[in-house]
Amino acid sequence: MTSSATLPPLAIVVLVSGSGSNLQAIIDAIAAGRLDANIRAVISNRDDAFGLQRAHQAGITTRVIRHQDYTSRATFDNALRHTIDRFSPELVVLAGFMRILTDDFVNHFHGQLINIHPSLLPAFPGLNTHRQALAAGMTEHGASIHFVTNQLDGGPVISQIRVPVLADDSVETLAQRVLLAEHRLYPATLQLFCQRRIGQQGGQVSLDGQVLLKPLNLTASGFACAQ
Ligand code: GRF
Repeated sequence: MTSSATLPPLAIVVLVSGSGSNLQAIIDAIAAGRLDANIRAVISNRDDAFGLQRAHQAGITTRVIRHQDYTSRATFDNALRHTIDRFSPELVVLAGFMRILTDDFVNHFHGQLINIHPSLLPAFPGLNTHRQALAAGMTEHGASIHFVTNQLDGGPVISQIRVPVLADDSVETLAQRVLLAEHRLYPATLQLFCQRRIGQQGGQVSLDGQVLLKPLNLTASGFACAQ
């Protein structure tokens, strides 16, 4: 295992469209010394995203690239890509970024683009995951962090966190439990990137150079197979 003490902080850019509670969890983990990352910028496609205020509060550079100002998905993604590139991040972190990205964009950031999704992928890609989990009678739900590919929510899964579905759960109570779990999963997973332990090999995830046969599972005591 590599010691992160000798490594420079991981340069990241975070993309948000809304509340930015996952961004806040990342900011808080850095402030607490649990995450050796440097957020070079927070970028949003919406100027009213609360995540931008969280970034300002933390003194982080922000950029807004409004998708309405572009005539096509390709021109928006091109502007977004150039804006990100100016910050030279090692990793681009999607945290509630509600845009489908073009193949050109995804290919440009191959191996450097990750997303958090509120389900145990491959179950329930797309929207309304909590409603789908309840309708399917699942007893367990959760969140996943995956490399982004041109398959919607279909890229190689790096890590997951599981939460129980309770008998009296509503969509709202289940969503809240999953979101709190996401706030643990993103910083913990990013720290593995900061330690330069995670890679993408072909269509698979590697940890310390070894292909992962299944996603890392975050429990109360950390990632069992990452210690
Ligand atoms: C999270 O549930 C995340 O999994 C999904 O969008 C939501 C973002 O929440 N991709 P927030 O903006 O981080 O509060």
